[in-house]
Amino acid sequence: RSVWAVVPAAGRGTRFGGDVPKQYLEVAGRSVLEHTLRALLSHPDVAGAMVALAPDDSRWPGWTSLCGKPVLRCDGGGERADSVLAALRALPPSVPGDALVLVHDAARPNLAASDVGRLIDAAMESPDGAILAAPVRDTLKRADGAGCIDATVPREALWRALTPQAFRRDALVHALESARAVGVAMTDEAMAIERAGGRPVLVEGREDNLKVTTPADLRLAEFLLSRRSP
Ligand code: C5P
Repeated sequence: RSVWAVVPAAGRGTRFGGDVPKQYLEVAGRSVLEHTLRALLSHPDVAGAMVALAPDDSRWPGWTSLCGKPVLRCDGGGERADSVLAALRALPPSVPGDALVLVHDAARPNLAASDVGRLIDAAMESPDGAILAAPVRDTLKRADGAGCIDATVPREALWRALTPQAFRRDALVHALESARAVGVAMTDEAMAIERAGGRPVLVEGREDNLKVTTPADLRLAEFLLSRRSP
């Protein structure tokens, strides 16, 4: 099984605040991005990683390999989907169109190898790929315009989409291209596949696969990663 990881890391991380984009913040002795890449590449089925960076990124440390596997870089684009498309197109020609690709947020450093394995297993069996996701545990309220509760939303069938999200390379390229052509805003890759009529499988992932978005998330990531790393 030969699977490539695609890591969009071209975001400015403006929600986090500060000068350093969140993927370059230090946590447990390494950058968030290095933890993320090592988590992906340490899985035996993952052959390499393609990282989409902002064209003016001056912090990229120039890796060409990590964990003994190739790390390639390309320029990302203005939106997340542009960055993912650029990375898919920049994969080496030896990667077949029906190869599985794992798209994973640069800012999710605490990915467990067991989740990568279960996701790959499910995506290999599914015609439309698979994503890691977590069932919603809180009660959900929809707000009215004044910040009051308008309704309680039943949570039974609701999941939080995590990453990685695993699809066949060509299927994802075509789905992203057609969604972009009509200007659909996409916050994950599954949205593009769904729009093309696909039904990706939900694979229950670990709750601690957190996305570093706020300073509180960074403290939590520090705690989780420092307990894991030797
Ligand atoms: O902003 P958010 O946390 O949703 O970003 C998710 C991922 O997408 C991050 O890893 C970010 O670097 C990436 N991204 C990108 N290109 C953009 C915008 C976001 O690669 N234009």
